[in-house]
Amino acid sequence: MTIQNYITENKDRFINELIDLLRIPSISADPAYKESVFKTADEVKKRLVEAGADNVEICQTKGYPVVYGEKIISPSSPTVLVYGHYDVQPPDPLDLWTSPPFEPVIKDEKIYARGACDDKGQMYMHVKAFELMMKTNSLPCNIKFMIEGEEEVGSDNLGIFVKANKERLKADVVLISDTGMIANDIPSITVGLRGLSYMEVEVTGPNRDLHSGIYGGAVANPINILCEMIASLHDKDNKVNIPGFYDNVEILSTEERAEMAKAPFSLEEYKKHLDLSDIHGEAGYSTNERVSIRPTLDVNGIWGGYTGEGAKTVIASKASAKISMRLVPNQTPAEITELFTKHFISIAPKSVKVKVTAHHGGDAAVTPTDSIAYQAAAKAMETTFGKKPIPQRTGGSIPIVALFEKELGLKTVLFGFGLDSDAIHSPNEHYGVFNYLKGIETIPHFFKNFAEMSK
Ligand code: BES
Ligand code: MN
Ligand code: MN
Repeated sequence: MTIQNYITENKDRFINELIDLLRIPSISADPAYKESVFKTADEVKKRLVEAGADNVEICQTKGYPVVYGEKIISPSSPTVLVYGHYDVQPPDPLDLWTSPPFEPVIKDEKIYARGACDDKGQMYMHVKAFELMMKTNSLPCNIKFMIEGEEEVGSDNLGIFVKANKERLKADVVLISDTGMIANDIPSITVGLRGLSYMEVEVTGPNRDLHSGIYGGAVANPINILCEMIASLHDKDNKVNIPGFYDNVEILSTEERAEMAKAPFSLEEYKKHLDLSDIHGEAGYSTNERVSIRPTLDVNGIWGGYTGEGAKTVIASKASAKISMRLVPNQTPAEITELFTKHFISIAPKSVKVKVTAHHGGDAAVTPTDSIAYQAAAKAMETTFGKKPIPQRTGGSIPIVALFEKELGLKTVLFGFGLDSDAIHSPNEHYGVFNYLKGIETIPHFFKNFAEMSK
């Protein structure tokens, strides 16, 4: 049976199975959902067994488990290590969803639910593509699955798991669908991810909240001070104003930048999608460059003082913010965390105390385009989309990619089928039925090409 026929016959079941998986709220960041995260791991295990995997195991870690499974067809065949994650981001703000985040619905040929694209939908394409290859007797490579439950919180325990299981994870390439492409009619393959350094800062003024009339004007208001400090972190060109921040930044050649600029992009449409009258960013770089080859600093959350109904005249004792920096190759999270910490403490006036703590981080990664695996992926997309994919760097982070290279010596192919407009991490996350089925169709071509080209 052909790939196409198998998909046509089974597509309703493929969609319904994904919808069932999306019903389980596997929010790794929120301890209230602990049971659901574990339950999702069990469910993934069950699905791998049903699809035909051997040695399927829930591997416990200090946090959420890694689900492992494999099918070894022959020691002389190449081995593909498929990575994905079954955890999802918190769904809030809930009131902005048009349907509840864990009650998936299909609207306009798109599946709406938290995790629909990131990453349950994309991860499950691999399980179904594997089922297809098993049922049609066409699996040409050994396959190993490693599906984790802590990607959205930094993959700390996966790092430990990988280091402890080097033998079991031996492979020729890592295949990950957890990124996007340019458009449904413009296939692309991600060849670069940014790194991350995530900080939290707390500014303390007086030892208690104060009446803003009695004390206002005579003591430092930690919210005012925090805002000033944050505002000073960018200069007039929107460069990050931390000494040393750009020291190790990889500089691309004019040729490389010209090559990147060939990717189709419409600034007008970009603005229209986001309802913006203008864009914003580092002087001297295009929008695509700002979100791929340049490092950034953004406040992700800020709080303090009175935010309830009505008004309260108060000077808060404390103000806080969560700040993330996206990194590019050669900047390391450890170095940037240190530079940020030193600088942030140094700019605090004597009138306040400052506390800086580091959350998770991760290294940037660049993946090759001259490898057999990349060529196999590009050829697969060319077959199913009818167009050669464009290699493109992207702004998001998958810290485990750099770790796979360091610990296992493995390169990764970022075989993503999502779209920027899928609203991952946002309300109304969705994944196109087209993209889901196209992924299931394209993956077996990758395996076939990779086996043939590895000979
Ligand atoms: N799948 C995303 C990363 C991504 C999305 C990369 C789209 C490229 C295009 C992943 O689940 C994610 O959200 N990663 C986090 C980092 C993590 C350490 C919390 C991110 O990028 O914020
Ligand atoms: Mn993801
Ligand atoms: Mn994510």
